[in-house]
Amino acid sequence: MRAGAGLAITVVIVGLLFWWRPSGLYLWLKAFHVIAVIAWMAGMLYLPRLFVYHAGAEPGSAQSETFKAMERRLLTVIINPAMVATWVLGLWLAWDGAFWASGWFHAKLGLVVALSALHGLFAGWVRQFGDDRNTRSVRFYRIVNEVPTVIMIAVVILVVVKPF
Ligand code: HEM
Repeated sequence: MRAGAGLAITVVIVGLLFWWRPSGLYLWLKAFHVIAVIAWMAGMLYLPRLFVYHAGAEPGSAQSETFKAMERRLLTVIINPAMVATWVLGLWLAWDGAFWASGWFHAKLGLVVALSALHGLFAGWVRQFGDDRNTRSVRFYRIVNEVPTVIMIAVVILVVVKPF
């Protein structure tokens, strides 16, 4: 409920900013882009950690059922809407700031597409765990758990330092 209310408030504020068009609109929308990124990344870092614990739990056990509910809610209430908000605001920033020709932006976009594909994989794994169809090991999820962290570090360096 609280996450949904937070999201609704964010959508209303961003809508009002577009309508009002203050002189610092770009910076306001960049702030909301970073807020959406934080929510998306929080979920993308936590969800594979849940997979690690879930893969070690007996299918059908109370623990496994709790992980199913946690994974489903994290995906639908936080991760999915945060990804959409990150993309919409990020593309608007790129259009308004005319970053299309910049090398750092191409590299960032490539990494963010990879992150979005990983997001899609995670959504599929949430469905598999939900149907007690997981076949992957705890070790597999421990390794996957590191991938969003590595992508996030590279993306933040690219967009802040803009090395090329
Ligand atoms: C989903 C597609 C995304 C697009 C199209 C996009 C695009 C952009 C653009 C054009 C800016 C403005 C850069 C500037 O004003 O100098 C920006 C800012 C930023 N983005 Fe993204 N972004 C996306 C996703 C992400 C992700 C996934 C992260 C982090 C993991 C991220 C982190 C940031 C940060 C920290 C800033 C602020 C940089 C600064 O002001 O120095 N973005 N983004």
